[in-house]
Amino acid sequence: MKHYLQFSDLSLGEYEYLFKRAAFIKHKFKTYQKHQPLVDRTLALIFEKASTRTRVSFEAGMYQMGGSVVNLTAGDSQMSRSEPIEDSARVISRMVDLVMIRTFGQDRLERFAAHSRVPVINGLTNEFHPCQIFADLFTLYEHRGQGGSALECFKDKVVAWVGDGNNMANSWLQAAQLLNFKIHVSTPSGYEINPDIVALSSKQSCEIFADPHQACMGADLVTTDVWTSMGYEAENQQRQTAFANWCVNEEMMAQAKPEALFMHCLPAHRGEEVSAGVIDGPQSVVWDEAENRMHVQKALMEYLLLGEQPFDD
Ligand code: CP
Ligand code: NVA
Repeated sequence: MKHYLQFSDLSLGEYEYLFKRAAFIKHKFKTYQKHQPLVDRTLALIFEKASTRTRVSFEAGMYQMGGSVVNLTAGDSQMSRSEPIEDSARVISRMVDLVMIRTFGQDRLERFAAHSRVPVINGLTNEFHPCQIFADLFTLYEHRGQGGSALECFKDKVVAWVGDGNNMANSWLQAAQLLNFKIHVSTPSGYEINPDIVALSSKQSCEIFADPHQACMGADLVTTDVWTSMGYEAENQQRQTAFANWCVNEEMMAQAKPEALFMHCLPAHRGEEVSAGVIDGPQSVVWDEAENRMHVQKALMEYLLLGEQPFDD
């Protein structure tokens, strides 16, 4: 049994298969062909933090594959009334085939997974957001793949991360190490990547810049995220000041390659981490990026439950 708790939980070969499979499943969806390998399977979605995209993409994706979904949120389950996470895992995983959790600490997700009889997927923790990075890379491949394989497309690409050293940044770093692209990271002082979460040892895959404009130089993709992630709301005031120069605007995008793309996992705050001109401009692929959450997660759920599948059904 396999869990997907962080981006590095799957191998290069598994991602190679999954990028192809996501493209296959997306094509079926776009051409109105049924793809229902998960009939009679049930997915539990557990949300201890808010969500729009993650909930809709997992729920719609599971129904499209013939399965069904049970939704739990912190407020309407016993999980917020101090039932141990281990007990919740033991019980929920006896009744469903697959679990997705969005929660606070990665340790909470890991404790659930350790007591689960079924595969567990990380739908965002304080430390990681692997499904989002999977979708972002798939979007990069769709826009810049030029007919080759996904892994070929990523090699030698430069991704600029502008902003918080948060769950998204950590997952980008893991992806860069595994898929052999380069990541330029620029965070305000005090909001750096925590080296205890992701090793920064691989000089080839990661370079740190004090100036976000410099981080964007020569980038194929510029990406950012909210200044204040869920769970850190108490720091909002001080973050507004610290992050003021980490707004991806037209001037910053001009440092990147002329054909560079812009991505944001959303929700976005126009005028804070990104200007309206950039997110609503011609280089932005944020709507494709959001849609692709569903396609890659369908491939992931199918893989965790059934393993590699033939492409001819
Ligand atoms: N990007 C993302 O995970 O969005 P939600 O918080 O809406 O799920
Ligand atoms: N870093 C953000 C991502 C939201 C999808 C957060 O954790 O709130």
